[in-house]
Parts: sequence; structure tokens; C-alpha cells
Amino acid sequence: MINSENLINFVNQTPKSELHLHIEGSLEPELMFKLSKRNNVEIPFKNVEEIKSAYNFSNLDSFLKIYYQGSNVLITEEDFFDLTWEYVLRCKKDNIVHTEIFFDPQSHTERGISFDTVINGIYKALKKGELEFGITSKIIMCFLRHLDEQPCFEVLNHALKHKDKIIGIGLDSSEKGNPPQKFKRLFEAAIKENFLTVAHAGEEGPPEYIWDSLNLLKVKRIDHGVQCLKDEKLVKILRQNNIPLTVCPLSNIKLCVFDRLENHNLKKMLDAGLRVVVNSDDPAYFGGYLNTNLIETSKALNLSIEDIKILIQNSFKSSFLDENSKKNWLNKI
Ligand code: ADE
Ligand code: ZN
Repeated sequence: MINSENLINFVNQTPKSELHLHIEGSLEPELMFKLSKRNNVEIPFKNVEEIKSAYNFSNLDSFLKIYYQGSNVLITEEDFFDLTWEYVLRCKKDNIVHTEIFFDPQSHTERGISFDTVINGIYKALKKGELEFGITSKIIMCFLRHLDEQPCFEVLNHALKHKDKIIGIGLDSSEKGNPPQKFKRLFEAAIKENFLTVAHAGEEGPPEYIWDSLNLLKVKRIDHGVQCLKDEKLVKILRQNNIPLTVCPLSNIKLCVFDRLENHNLKKMLDAGLRVVVNSDDPAYFGGYLNTNLIETSKALNLSIEDIKILIQNSFKSSFLDENSKKNWLNKI
């Protein structure tokens, strides 16, 4: 077993990639409060402490309610820039050299904010991060699965104008009762437009949602996927095809998918030969960014230095970087 200081140093100093981060989920209470004042948007909290103490969730839906409410303070391009820039600074601090972030356009367009305002603010901050710190990035546009297919098609149409900025599409929000087949035609249309596809599946929902994400939505990665161990045949397929699973341990604890980190199934997934990657999901809400996720999980599950290396190697192998860049980073670990 590695001692705590060596573990922390290793995680902090090793270059990493992050593949499952909702940019709206990186909205820290301090910035939420500042933007609510700047934009005159009322939030049901008197101060930052009140915001923090509201972050007790019993499941995914109880979190999503607070998360969408928090996003209401984001109005202007500058707001989306500031939000993303704060995350870029965190990447620099944590030695995240490549990141593939999600955004939820519908949680903004449904409030009358234009798609262009959102994507331009996010994109400009990421580009500045690349220019100033060499942090590379990709943007993945997520559809809200609790909504109908039709408004999603309208968003997809709008995204065509920004194909140069968006590499792929994803599926998030309330999983149970919103199965992948609801979006089969949408994903087919997106694939025809050369977008890569990923989907949240098997976070709270059953292994069937993982099967359907693979078979119907043709995803390159499964986001979360922790329910896969309930289905041996599925595990075999995931392993044989090297399908990445972007697991978010602290998120899973905060949303009560597992009762405590010591009981998380990440080590079992690794031991089953699955391509597991560790990520932070919505770090401002779940108590930790990527390095904290890696460190806390390693301690709770007694991961070896080899396990941690594999997790970090997987973060590059599973990315949408070109093969040369992947090789370059893998050589540095
Ligand atoms: N949107 C933001 N975080 C999410 C999560 N963990 N699951 C589904 N949708 C989300
Ligand atoms: Zn997520």
C-alpha cells in the first residue's frame, strides 16, 4: 500500500485527462452568488453558506432540481466564459492537461438564453486555456433526456452552425424512465452529421440502458456505467470492445448510488478488466474535483499505484484525442 503523502504527490503531479465534467456542475457557490447579484437573478439562498448547506441529495433527481436552479444565474456570454475559466484554472492547478466537457444547452435555451451565447462563452475560455496553459479540450453537447425528442432535434439543428466547436453529443439528466431508445433517431441524425456519441447509462438505471446505448445510440463511451456488474454478459462485451466507462465516485456517493466510498464497485470493475476512467461529474456540488476523486477513491478502496496508473492511462486512451497525442501523454505517465 502507498502512503498518503506519496499518493497525493503522485496524483497531483501526473498529467491527467478528464472526460466526464458538466461545466454547469463546476459552478461554485461563490460564483453562483456573484452572478445572481451581477444579473439580478434571485436565488433562494441568502449567502454562500446557505447554498452549501442545501447540497444534500437523496438521488439523481433531487440533485438535478438544485443543479438546474443554480444554472439560472448564467445569462451572458461573459458568465459562461467566467464559469469555464474557473474550471480551466482548476485544471491547471490539478495538472489536467486535456479535458472533454459537457454542456446542457437546453437548460439555457429553455430560459431564453441563445445557444450562441452559451457556446461562445464556453469556447472562448477553453481556447484561452489552450493558448495560455496548453490545456487541450473538446466540447460535448448533452441532450436532456427528460425532454421530448422534437426539441432535441431543434437543438441539434442549431449545433450544426457550431460543428467546428462541438465534437460529439451526449445524453444526461433523469435516467430512470427515459431509456436510450427514446433518442435513437436523434442519435442517428447526429452520427450522419459526424458527431461522436456518448451517453449517461447505468448510473441509476438498469444494465439494459447500457446495452441500448451501445446498440441503438452507437456510443463510444458509457458515462457512469456502474450498474454493468449486474450483467455478466454485458461485462464481457464491454471488456472485449474496450468500451470506456467514465466513473464518478464522489458523485455516486453524493447521489446515494453507493452508501459509502468503501463500498464503491470501481475496484471490482478494474479487476474485471474494464476500461475505467475516474472523473468529477459536477465537482462544485459533489465535494471534489478530479484529484480529490482519485485520492479519496484510492484510499477507500486500497488501490495500488499500478491501479492508479491504469486509471490515468485510461483517461488518455479513452479520450477523443488523436493517436499521436494519446501516445505522447501515455509516454509521460
Ligand atoms: N447532469 C449533471 N450531472 C448529471 C449526472 N450525474 N447524471 C445525469 N445527468 C447529469
Ligand atoms: Zn454526468
